[in-house]
Amino acid sequence: MKIIRCKDYEDMSKKAAALFFSQIHMKPDCVLGLATGSTPVGTYKQLIEWYEAGDLDFSKVKSVNLDEYVGLDGTNDQSYRYFMNENLFNHVNIDKANTNVPNGKAGNMDEEALRYEALIESLGGIDMQLLGIGNNGHIGFNEPSDAFDKITHEVKLTDSTIQANARFFESIDDVPKTAISMGIGTIMKAKKIVLIANGPKKADIIYETCFGPITPHVPASALQMHPDATIIVDEEAYATILAKRGE
Ligand code: PGA
Repeated sequence: MKIIRCKDYEDMSKKAAALFFSQIHMKPDCVLGLATGSTPVGTYKQLIEWYEAGDLDFSKVKSVNLDEYVGLDGTNDQSYRYFMNENLFNHVNIDKANTNVPNGKAGNMDEEALRYEALIESLGGIDMQLLGIGNNGHIGFNEPSDAFDKITHEVKLTDSTIQANARFFESIDDVPKTAISMGIGTIMKAKKIVLIANGPKKADIIYETCFGPITPHVPASALQMHPDATIIVDEEAYATILAKRGE
């Protein structure tokens, strides 16, 4: 696990985008694993800037997103499909037919989960996966629990995640209570992983993720076992590492 310490959010976003820039240049038809949330917005903005400057071509890129709320379709402005269209896909030359988000409106979530796993396999797996991290250590919507979830599955969101996500909705009652998410096993199969985090609220969980025990109670700690995981954090998210290691 490599940790890259950055000055601020902008610096973190640029460095993460730079890894995706080289991934796309090295393999123009790569499969990118993408994430939603407030953390990746700056990374996507930087990729859009490079695309607009003529330095990036998404025409052969394929993508798979980590998760989606159950019950929301792509026209709902809180759905993750909508987020991806607004924050990246509508602004670059990616073919929307090559972009994939789990279907939150599928009638049978177990079947949808298996379809999504098979889809990722059929694309040849994920070349580079972008991750944010929840304050409780979740990646995708893999919430803390007694066992690592292996494959894509339906998840019941924890109260802390519902509260953290309420800021995007009119009221907390509007936040969906379940989601469909790649499993930790799905994420761990990605060839390269890039996790980004910024701000003081993430400092403790970043320390736990990088130096705590590997436990499903901190789902992101599984990344310690990944052969090519890069954690990119700003000064504030690095603060607990700094304090505990006395650097
Ligand atoms: P955030 O969410 O980027 O909005 O902090 C991250 C996550 O919950 O995975």
